[in-house]
Amino acid sequence: MPIMETGLLLYSLFFFVFLLFHASSAQVPGFVSFDCGGIENFTDDIGLVWTPDTQLAYGETANISVSNETRKQYMTLRHFPADSRKYCYTLNVISRTRYLLRATFLYGNFDNYNVYPKFDISLGATHWSTIVISDAGTIEVRELIFLALSPTISVCLSNATTGQPFISTLELRQFNGSVYYTDFEAHYYLSVSARINFGADSEVPIRYPDDPFDRIWESDSLKKANYLVDVAAGTKKVSTKMPIDVNKDERPPEKVMQTAVVGTNGSLTYRLNLDGFPGFGWAVTYFAEIEDFGSDQSRKFRLVLPEHPEISKAVVNIEENALGKYRVYEPGYVNLTLPFVLSFKFGKTSDSSLGPLLNAMEINKYLEKNDGSLDGAVISNVVSPYSSADWAQEGGDPCLPVPWSWVQCNSDPQPKIVKILLSRKNITGNIPSNLTKLTGLVELWLDGNSLNGPIPDFTGCIDLKIIHLEDNQLTGGLPSSLINLPNLRELYVQNNMLSGTVPAGLLNRNLVLNYSGNLNLQKGDKRGSHMNIIIGSSVGAAVLLIATIASCLFMSKGKKKYFEQEQLEHSQPVQRLVPSKSDAPTEAAHCFTLSEIEDATNKFEKKIGSGGFGVVYYGKMKDGKEIAVKVLTSNSFQGKREFANEVTLLSRIHHRNLVQFLGFCQEGERSMLVYEFMHNGTLKEHLYGPLTRERSINWIKRLEVAEDAAKGIEYLHTGCVPAIIHRDLKSSNILLDKHMRAKVSDFGLSKLAVDGASHVSSIVRGTVGYLDPEYYISQQLTDKSDVYSFGVILLELISGQEAISNESFGVNCRNIVQWAKLHIESGDIQGIIDPLLHEEFDIQSMWKIAEKALMCVQPHGHMRPSISEVVKEIQDAISIEKEAVAAREGNSDEMSRNSLHSSLNACSMDLGGADNYLSIDESIARPAAR
Ligand SMILES: *[C@@H]1O[C@H](CO)[C@@H](O)[C@H](O)[C@H]1NC(C)=O
Ligand SMILES: *[C@@H]1O[C@H](CO)[C@@H](O)[C@H](O)[C@H]1NC(C)=O
Ligand SMILES: *[C@@H]1O[C@H](CO)[C@@H](O)[C@H](O)[C@H]1NC(C)=O
Ligand SMILES: *[C@@H]1O[C@H](CO)[C@@H](O)[C@H](O)[C@H]1NC(C)=O
Ligand SMILES: *[C@@H]1O[C@H](CO)[C@@H](O)[C@H](O)[C@H]1NC(C)=O
Ligand SMILES: *[C@@H]1O[C@H](CO)[C@@H](O)[C@H](O)[C@H]1NC(C)=O
Repeated sequence: MPIMETGLLLYSLFFFVFLLFHASSAQVPGFVSFDCGGIENFTDDIGLVWTPDTQLAYGETANISVSNETRKQYMTLRHFPADSRKYCYTLNVISRTRYLLRATFLYGNFDNYNVYPKFDISLGATHWSTIVISDAGTIEVRELIFLALSPTISVCLSNATTGQPFISTLELRQFNGSVYYTDFEAHYYLSVSARINFGADSEVPIRYPDDPFDRIWESDSLKKANYLVDVAAGTKKVSTKMPIDVNKDERPPEKVMQTAVVGTNGSLTYRLNLDGFPGFGWAVTYFAEIEDFGSDQSRKFRLVLPEHPEISKAVVNIEENALGKYRVYEPGYVNLTLPFVLSFKFGKTSDSSLGPLLNAMEINKYLEKNDGSLDGAVISNVVSPYSSADWAQEGGDPCLPVPWSWVQCNSDPQPKIVKILLSRKNITGNIPSNLTKLTGLVELWLDGNSLNGPIPDFTGCIDLKIIHLEDNQLTGGLPSSLINLPNLRELYVQNNMLSGTVPAGLLNRNLVLNYSGNLNLQKGDKRGSHMNIIIGSSVGAAVLLIATIASCLFMSKGKKKYFEQEQLEHSQPVQRLVPSKSDAPTEAAHCFTLSEIEDATNKFEKKIGSGGFGVVYYGKMKDGKEIAVKVLTSNSFQGKREFANEVTLLSRIHHRNLVQFLGFCQEGERSMLVYEFMHNGTLKEHLYGPLTRERSINWIKRLEVAEDAAKGIEYLHTGCVPAIIHRDLKSSNILLDKHMRAKVSDFGLSKLAVDGASHVSSIVRGTVGYLDPEYYISQQLTDKSDVYSFGVILLELISGQEAISNESFGVNCRNIVQWAKLHIESGDIQGIIDPLLHEEFDIQSMWKIAEKALMCVQPHGHMRPSISEVVKEIQDAISIEKEAVAAREGNSDEMSRNSLHSSLNACSMDLGGADNYLSIDESIARPAAR
């Protein structure tokens, strides 16, 4: 239930005090509370007993340093390798009983990488949720209500896309009634989306001990993006101290029902985002009449859901429906289609004197269960006798969401096990006879263990191709049932204690058979002679080869993703992108001579800057043209490569918002690039530094600079084929010309994106403070890495602060992104606006840019907008600002009107999806970005 997110941290934190052992340490019956990564049992301030998750054989523990007001259970966590495995907790439950399962995640930069993890969590074989961390200090919460159908459940983490999977707490709460009963519960879980206490008197949620099942009733006064917005005018809180007859256990606790909101103007309206939706949901509203009014008054209202006109017919009269005041009435919908953005309204009927009232509501999404592998039960019989062995503790479904490390499965919707790889696992006892029930088995590897007893009858495993039982202590004969396996191609049983004769049916077929090292096992009548490897026919070798190829292909199937990725890395066309020395400066690049350059720069007299790869000098050509000459640091191989790269690239790129490349010069050890001269230096100098005091640039100018730069980047991303990723965008790489128009410079780090592929791998380069964290960890460069850097530049434009600073952002924060995000998301945009702007800006246009900037610096590339969307948003902000400027100056000049209209038209033509999503919140001028 990500609704809690910021709530938990900012508002609902109970103080972590050191009287942890004061309360009685009795566990509430039916509660299991794992403090993942913890070391000791403790009782928290609300009386819940937390136990460390030391049962888990996997993963490592970590402590995080977060605010001292964080509850103890969040200060430790357990994290797991970012590999292709899954890591599971197994919990005991009572079959045929309903439970609430809660998992929480507080990243707290435990690994010191500051890369926000993304991974999946599953319940058994069912994908439960993808955990996307978007803030180191926010607690992500997921809740699920389910009916237990077996004595254990497994909660597994897997599929790390970025960072390492981790978990802070795992909580199980047993229900003892049937409020959450549904007709679908054998096949669906309920994933908790919203559980709201209306009219709450604080932002602290209500949970245990008020709620005996420790459900968390979120306060409606919690402030966060798209949570209960668009509240109707006249909405008032009401509350009572009177007891409420909640009657049934699983109804909301009394404390929740004692508060409510009333629409005094006749209606209650709200809008909120429902995580996990659109989809089918379970929604219940809770009403209790807690206001006193005379018999001459009445309260009657209807629920209005625009998507569901049929629902609006029912009239609620709480007192009548609940059979009295201070009693609960709980109408709900067991199966309702709900959208991601839910707007709902309660409106009074025309004959009602009082407006509607609402105490609480719950919305859950149906999450379809995955039945898991067909072999689940059988394989658990195989595993259970070895429960203390590592390999037997992987938990969860053998195949889903990812298979155990020693198992491979086919890709059927209900997968079957096709390969068992238990070589050299120190397994004792007989070959588990349940293995013979794995009807899809193709390969069985049990070699190098201490197995004894006979080889069982594998006739049921009709697809078996490869059997490895060598190096064990097996006894008895080679069963003739093996002859019944039509596909058998490889049978290794050497170095056992087998006896008897090799069935003739195994000898005269295409089979690689090794039975040496079994003193008493003989080949039919040829007594005493041990054929080590019998290849039954001349095609045997070919069969072996085919078998090997087939198994390789098969094995690589599961790893296909990685394989392709590797291939991409290796086939990355370095040669094409970075021409070798001999063919370096080609195409249209103009070649200057050294003497030309020396004349123009007056022997490198005037240094005007220093960039990534060398120093920049001012120059003036004979014809009066002013130039900037970048002299690359000599002897730098890196620099040389970049030089060649830049020359080829630059000679092909022409755009009014990109600094014009005029040519190059390469003589002896010296390599130089010649650009047009940009009279007004870098954006950085104009935002902070000595220049700013006298002539700081105003907001509209900053917006224009942003627009120019974004258009330059847009051209690189969309106008060039293949697309070009800049890789080192920063305010010192945005230059300003005579007319203060901005151009993007320094393509030294640019690289062409591979045609048709979404990303390119290369060594991570860029500038601290602007570097996309996802790129940093994954090394997968995409155009969204530039969008991240551009988001940082937008934040600089708003705040006039440097991207990285030791002083400006308060303690424990060196980074403009963290600092700005905190302010913007809590609605405090004023807290980051550059004082040099002197309040001369329109707050709407400021919000627009702030919201877009936050979208740009989302931790994951796919969550960021494209640069084209950013361009549109900046143009919108410019229109708003221009209108505001005109209004401020009382100037309704025709020119500015026209330009306003034309640019608005241009924008409304093709609003992308992200814009639509954002527009939801424009009315309240708060960030939709989270
Ligand atoms: C924690 O309490 C449980 C019983 O609730 C007990 O079995 C376990 O040994 C305790 N663990 C520690 C580390 O004290
Ligand atoms: C947490 O730390 C802050 C400042 O370091 C301090 O003012 C506050 O009292 C502390 N809170 C608790 C519960 O220790
Ligand atoms: C792993 O996560 C990625 C990204 O969230 C998703 O596209 C993919 O389907 C997931 N793989 C599995 C096996 O769940
Ligand atoms: C809900 O209703 C839809 C059709 O209206 C149906 O397809 C679906 O199976 C029902 N139940 C769930 C849990 O989605
Ligand atoms: C194999 O198992 C035996 C006893 O079951 C144990 O003593 C030994 O350490 C194990 N060896 C390995 C390598 O796990
Ligand atoms: C499979 O394992 C179960 C439990 O160990 C056992 O009762 C059953 O007999 C086994 N089935 C076969 C076919 O061996």
